[in-house]
Amino acid sequence: MRRKIIAGNWKMNGSRQFAVELVEKLQPVAEELSSSVEVVVAPPYVLMTTVGQYCSSGLKMASQDVSSFDGGAYTGEISADMLVDMGCRYSIVGHSERRALFGDTNELVAKKVVKSLEKDIAPILCVGETLEERETGKTLDVIREQIVSALKELNEQQLKNVVVAYEPVWAIGTGKTATPEQAQEVHAFIRKEIAGMSESVAELMPIIYGGSVKADNAVSLFAMNDIDGGLVGGASLKFEEFAEICKAIG
Ligand code: PGA
Repeated sequence: MRRKIIAGNWKMNGSRQFAVELVEKLQPVAEELSSSVEVVVAPPYVLMTTVGQYCSSGLKMASQDVSSFDGGAYTGEISADMLVDMGCRYSIVGHSERRALFGDTNELVAKKVVKSLEKDIAPILCVGETLEERETGKTLDVIREQIVSALKELNEQQLKNVVVAYEPVWAIGTGKTATPEQAQEVHAFIRKEIAGMSESVAELMPIIYGGSVKADNAVSLFAMNDIDGGLVGGASLKFEEFAEICKAIG
């Protein structure tokens, strides 16, 4: 049985009051579902102290990014050690918004994956194609390149701690979700690529889907064989909606 994960990516949203109101309600739900699904929230860095107080065996915290450096004169960066200190268990790495807007190349993403793993933070490696890439038949090539470049240097022990999130760029924040079949095709492809590195890890690796996941499409997405959960943006900001999504897999 593979681990199931639902992670809420708050992006650049929220305040301390918002965070308390949301996680206060979410924590007991996460606790109740903890035997079947891991519920994770990724708040902005400045809200981690607040959110961290509600983290437990049921509710876990992720960062939205991590520095590829250990520490020192890197203004604005947050190191993996700092994330450990905050109680983070996961870090989102290579989100398409980081890739498109902040220059995260495949090479930098690979460094961030390694840095997370060095500090025992499980990277949630995001991969996904743009609409143009999909329409010109390049989806699987793009995904392969993103997967291989980020993971090729890892040994089996490290690979075991990676989570992959398939997030088609055209589905993020657009209300346009990949159909369960479209998502399943790419998830199965990702698992095959991982199997080329290690068959046993591929069997166990959670591969989660992101891109306009909502309460009303979650059940059909999570019913697919190779979809082990979701990375949820907009819908993770609303307690009821996010709780529904967690229950859809739990
Ligand atoms: P969305 O975002 O659910 O708002 O589409 C998903 C993500 O960017 O992780």
